[in-house]
Amino acid sequence: MIVLGIETSCDECSAAVVRDGHVIMSNVIATQIELHKPYQGVVPELASRLHTEWIQQVVEAAIRQAGITKEDLDAVAVTSRPGLLGSLLVGVSFAKCYATALGIPFIGIDHIRAHLYASQIENPLEYPYLGVLVSGGHTVICRVDGYDDISVLGTTIDDAIGEAFDKVAKFYDLGFPGGVVIDRLSQSGNPTAFLFPGPSLDGEEHRYDMSYSGLKTAVINQRMQFLQEGAADTPENIAASFQRQAVGILMKRVRLALKDTGLTRVSAGGGVAANSLLRKELKDLEKGGYTVTFPSLKLCTDNGAMVAGLGYRYLSDGISSDTHLGASARVSAFKKS
Ligand code: KG4
Ligand code: ZN
Repeated sequence: MIVLGIETSCDECSAAVVRDGHVIMSNVIATQIELHKPYQGVVPELASRLHTEWIQQVVEAAIRQAGITKEDLDAVAVTSRPGLLGSLLVGVSFAKCYATALGIPFIGIDHIRAHLYASQIENPLEYPYLGVLVSGGHTVICRVDGYDDISVLGTTIDDAIGEAFDKVAKFYDLGFPGGVVIDRLSQSGNPTAFLFPGPSLDGEEHRYDMSYSGLKTAVINQRMQFLQEGAADTPENIAASFQRQAVGILMKRVRLALKDTGLTRVSAGGGVAANSLLRKELKDLEKGGYTVTFPSLKLCTDNGAMVAGLGYRYLSDGISSDTHLGASARVSAFKKS
């Protein structure tokens, strides 16, 4: 089965063609980063306008690069939630029309589930496993019993981890997108130059929860102090110290959840899963006997391949969407573990 996957939930305009859920025939990602750079963040109105202008060419390029014609497609999968509403609407409207014109099924895909599924395309992992979703909008630790059977153990109670990377970078004028820049600067910084605080979340109900706003504020306040004192440390040391704590907050909960649940497999996904320190620390879990997978770098950040891959799973189980399906900015309900 050949599935076209379309992803326009934020600032990447992407389309991919995937055969049988695991053979990536093409994965075109037209990034809007340069166009949002002057604003040091994604401007929703600009993002949706660019998707409108680009989507047709991106889809055509994906089909061309896959070496097929649109008549070879068996289905169209598209991210329908959560994300920027205007951007999602562009992809959903396009996918519905395209599938209807071709007379093939169409399926709306949840972006969070797609990120959690991404590593399964390249490195299939047996269920159940501990899922770690870390992106610009979400930070979730969950138990994954199937591609659509996900129970949330913990989430951030405020900022997402990627959002903290982006805001720290913005405040220090390090560049955009923040996660990539901080990761790069950290390579030559001292991670113990500053001991930034981690959250103290009381109560059993917060056992696996995280918080990033305190860390973000502490790193930002450090800059205010530099400005007042007329002193400064290197951006490399700030970046490395922040990154160490940001990853530390997450890894502490990951280790706790693994110990409590007895799960022996872990898989990460989302843009922050591209972070070199996080990848190293997750990989280090293998020394304790755990099996660890994460997507290749291209499948960590937003892409159409993960959408097509997950779409294939639903379609194989006879599940598709009807053309009344709309887009939604909201996160759909997950089971609470
Ligand atoms: O998954 P994604 O492309 O979009 C969302 O669904 O949010 O994730 C984007 C996020 C941004 O916050 C970006 O700064 C972060 O992923 N990111 C990274 C790295 N590469 C991207 N964060 C840390 N280290 C990286 N290497
Ligand atoms: Zn994403």
